[in-house]
Amino acid sequence: MKFRYKIVTLLILFSSLFSKELITPIPLDIKYDKEKVLLGKKLFFDPRLSKDNSISCASCHVLDAGGDDNLSFSVGINGKVGGINAPTVYNSVFNIAQFWDGRAKDLQEQAHGPVENPIEMGESFDNVIKKLQKDNSLSQEFRKIYKEGITSNSITDAIAHFETTLITPNAPFDKYLRGDKNAIDEDARKGYEHFVEYGCVSCHNGINIGGNLFQKIGLIKEFKTSVKSLGKFDVTGNKSDMNYFKVPTLRNISKTAPYFHDGSVYDLKSAVEVMLNVQLGIVAPSEDVSQIVKFLKTLDGEVPDIVQNN
Ligand code: HEC
Ligand code: HEC
Repeated sequence: MKFRYKIVTLLILFSSLFSKELITPIPLDIKYDKEKVLLGKKLFFDPRLSKDNSISCASCHVLDAGGDDNLSFSVGINGKVGGINAPTVYNSVFNIAQFWDGRAKDLQEQAHGPVENPIEMGESFDNVIKKLQKDNSLSQEFRKIYKEGITSNSITDAIAHFETTLITPNAPFDKYLRGDKNAIDEDARKGYEHFVEYGCVSCHNGINIGGNLFQKIGLIKEFKTSVKSLGKFDVTGNKSDMNYFKVPTLRNISKTAPYFHDGSVYDLKSAVEVMLNVQLGIVAPSEDVSQIVKFLKTLDGEVPDIVQNN
């Protein structure tokens, strides 16, 4: 039995090894449309996108705290509690699809979701548009960029443009990948070796060290959870997609506890032990686990200037 699972892991590892670089650094410079980005930033922080004008995107995606809310489940309008953990918005532009189950194909499609979700912002786009149209200077700003003015399409387009700037380059590990061998210490280097040798990298790879494939949670041992989501199965209805979730990014992972789609694990060391157990069927020496954690901590990048300044 065990042997068969090892083969599965090896197969995933080989297919990813041959198709791409294991991990690639985040680019230091990106081009963006500044007018759209600044408009999108305003909207990201604008509580008028919610029914009672109390919640903005930034309420659940706190940009100074890793881009999530550090809760197991988010709190929306009227104190309503969600049913799945909020992922970070940082580097989400690099993901193959958005949401744990991948139901939105890109950031713009994603941004439609929370506004009309009754337990998040609970507002209709018609009302949002009416509220924003009363704001003359904002209306003018929209018309300067979008000839159609304020529409659900222009709102979500601007937000998506802002989110493409939310990338965190220059993590110590990226500097290491670019050739600065002293950017991470000996323990973190060993941690990276374990990350590759144990097979973490077969699922967490590429620019986002995740975000580029769906995999089953509990590949080898059951992951017990009370959260109802069945991952990609909820989108496709295919039995083979049952419990397949988008492999999350591990960038800035030290800042985005609690972990997993059910927000059930509060510290990184335990999260690594859970992964070793349910995905790989391994109980690793404590020192190896600590070294993997040290490696994961070298994935904290720099928050882009756009977050602090305009
Ligand atoms: C009440 C809390 C809450 C609010 C408000 C909220 N989000 Fe989220 N966000 C979440 C949760 C929870 C998820 C995960 C939902 C899922 O996967 O089913 C999520 C997922 C996302 C994702 C997907 C990330 C990924 O890796 O899959 C993005 C991007 C995002 N939100 C952006 C936004 C934007 C833009 C807004 C404002 C228009 C917003 N969110 C408002 C809680 C919130
Ligand atoms: C077979 C694929 C696979 C392997 C191998 C794997 N992971 Fe994961 N990892 C996932 C998936 C899928 C999730 C999301 C699970 C969920 O929450 O439903 C995840 C989640 C995580 C999380 C939590 C991220 C968050 O934002 O909540 C961490 C940390 C993590 N993995 C680290 C590791 C480490 C370290 C290893 C190696 C010991 C590893 N993973 C091996 C697929 C994998």
